[in-house]
Amino acid sequence: MEEQTRQLLDWSQWGRQWIEHLRSRKKLNRELERHLHKFEETFTQLGRNAGRLKPEEQKEQLPVLIARAEEVQEQFHRFLRLVQATEQDTFEAVATLAAYPPSRQPVPVARSLSPGRHTLPPLPYDYNALEPYIDADTMRIHHDKLHQKYVDDLNTAELKLAEARTNGNFELIRHWERELAFNGAGHYLHTLFWPTMTPNGGGEPSGELLEAIRRYFGSYNAFREQFSYAAKKVEGPGWAILVWSPRAQHLEILTAEKHQNLSQWDVVPLLPLDVWEHSYFLSYQNERDKYVDAWWNVVNWPYVEERFAQARKLRWQPY
Ligand SMILES: [Fe+2]
Repeated sequence: MEEQTRQLLDWSQWGRQWIEHLRSRKKLNRELERHLHKFEETFTQLGRNAGRLKPEEQKEQLPVLIARAEEVQEQFHRFLRLVQATEQDTFEAVATLAAYPPSRQPVPVARSLSPGRHTLPPLPYDYNALEPYIDADTMRIHHDKLHQKYVDDLNTAELKLAEARTNGNFELIRHWERELAFNGAGHYLHTLFWPTMTPNGGGEPSGELLEAIRRYFGSYNAFREQFSYAAKKVEGPGWAILVWSPRAQHLEILTAEKHQNLSQWDVVPLLPLDVWEHSYFLSYQNERDKYVDAWWNVVNWPYVEERFAQARKLRWQPY
């Protein structure tokens, strides 16, 4: 099936899951329920239309469906913020969808980046906006020069690896894997770093995030103290990162030396291969190559496919 058709079907399912979740949480007022019902119909209809497209219709019809889905998604994001606002103040008059502003740029519904197509996300505020805490010169160099370099070098690594796949020459694989990890991690972390700062920031989080922090760390202050210590004690350059574990369903604070240790942040592992000696020494002694070749015989693809199906429902703005 065409990749974009599959993405539209996933998107349609994502919308319907959201609706189910909202309905299970609380009873919505009539106005909101009316909007919700309309969204439910639209998500279902767009998914159905995408699934029924004949191959010869796809070229013409898919872009139309995707544009419509992106429009619906923008409205749905507004709707979710409206629901949130009415939860905070149930006595507030029900605003109309049109009057409620979108919080951020909607995420494209069906777009994936081909190798070498990463771009630098714009800084969401002026260079001097974070002064006196972070100065304008630092921001200019950090964003325009350093982050841009990660983007450029990540693109180069992806293109070099695509070239290697085409001509079957993997002589420099170790080098390009290092470049991929270092620059990919650098790009993704900085992309997350800029919007998680704002000139009107500080204070404490609220809502479900605050609850989750209290539940796991004990209190906001305890969380903040641990995070600060962790950041200060990273050996050499690196990061402290608050993360959500979909596996454990709790928050955690992690640190990274450099960006990556040959991995990337902001990705979901699907298929790991343990190449520590403890995983093969008894049978293969020092012959890791034989172990790797043999391992392909035991890969559980249906399990990996299931993880992939779950992981790909996450959608963020691609850069
Ligand atoms: Fe940085």
